[in-house]
Amino acid sequence: MSGVKKILVADDEIHIAMAIKAILKKALPGYVVDHAKNGVEAWKMASTNDYQLVISDWNMPKKNGDELLSDLRKNNDTSKTPFMMLTARGDRDSYAVAAKAGVDDYLIKPFKAAEFVLKVKGLLEHETAGLLGGVQAECLADLVVDRFKKGYTNLPVLPKVVKNFNKLFESGDVTIEDIVKVVELDSAIALKLISIANSPLVRGASDCLSVERAITRLGLPETKNYIVALANKGVLVSENIILKKVLEDLWWHSLETAYCAKLLAIMLNHSNPDKLFLLGLLHDVGKLLLVSIVDDLSITWSEIDKAAVDEIMDSLHADFGSVLIRAWNFGDEFYDIVHFHHSPFDSENISFELLVIYLANLILGGDDGKDAVEITSSQAAIRLGLKSDMIMSVIEKTNEYVASARRVL
Ligand SMILES: [Fe+2]
Ligand SMILES: [Fe+2]
Repeated sequence: MSGVKKILVADDEIHIAMAIKAILKKALPGYVVDHAKNGVEAWKMASTNDYQLVISDWNMPKKNGDELLSDLRKNNDTSKTPFMMLTARGDRDSYAVAAKAGVDDYLIKPFKAAEFVLKVKGLLEHETAGLLGGVQAECLADLVVDRFKKGYTNLPVLPKVVKNFNKLFESGDVTIEDIVKVVELDSAIALKLISIANSPLVRGASDCLSVERAITRLGLPETKNYIVALANKGVLVSENIILKKVLEDLWWHSLETAYCAKLLAIMLNHSNPDKLFLLGLLHDVGKLLLVSIVDDLSITWSEIDKAAVDEIMDSLHADFGSVLIRAWNFGDEFYDIVHFHHSPFDSENISFELLVIYLANLILGGDDGKDAVEITSSQAAIRLGLKSDMIMSVIEKTNEYVASARRVL
């Protein structure tokens, strides 16, 4: 081993290879960067030199990047050499082929220099953490916004059962039979409604064994609330274990906020507490859109850093939520809640509902949350006349509802 640290760039497009060399030279001045014009040349160079990293295009003359990778993996001297694939192929199948061949990282062209350098540094440090971590949350925010601006069309869709339900309620004249018909189209929701109707969430005398009886016991507004809550669970599914957990936590936070907001509305004598339940369910909908974008971007990452995802969700969800709520054709009231629920006094329309959702989030803030006395002295609580004993009682009841819901949902 010569002691000189070297990187091999294999790409038949000379201008791309030169651009990569220029980026690497600037970011890693201690490295020598060699260039191979095709797969065969890359194989010869890699098998006779000691490279710390091979960065390769996929489609190349004489030997493709995936073939080069398999050859390197079969050779004792190069079987562990970090390998990054740079390609225009962004589909999951190609990624799966590269992953099977033993690729260490994968980047889709065109890419941002900052992202490329982060990945290269990660591989050189023998880290498998992929793209994210530490300062990289900033980079993730940058990538997510960039992806969205380039025209992200894969918006989460409003569940069909909710659409049908909204139509039904818009028509004004709703009967239990109409609702039963809509609910029975979705057997998972139908079964859950029956479980809810038989649970301590709704205390009834006898067993409720049909959808019709469940709806009768729950009442129309409550039925609608649970249908939206249950349908929200299926709006977005991810195969990634980290994003799955993020979605699960988000779903429970939304339900918890819905209970808390409804209880606050009851306590403050609002005429329609169920509306607050619905607003609570949907207030963080921007996080769904963000998870959807991260899920899409992450097909090329070896790992996702949950802390980085949490950080961008906190900073971006209000803005992204307002985009989604418009796409779902919800009106200005929903828009205001989704956009301003962490900064209600920035809104031109500081409504009762907006202050309640804001307060529900303060109350449920977890370890970082404020205590009842602190919340009582907030401007929002003063405006609504919310006292600390009321907050304590709301917290207690919310916890009780969530515990019951966890047993049946
Ligand atoms: Fe939020
Ligand atoms: Fe929230």
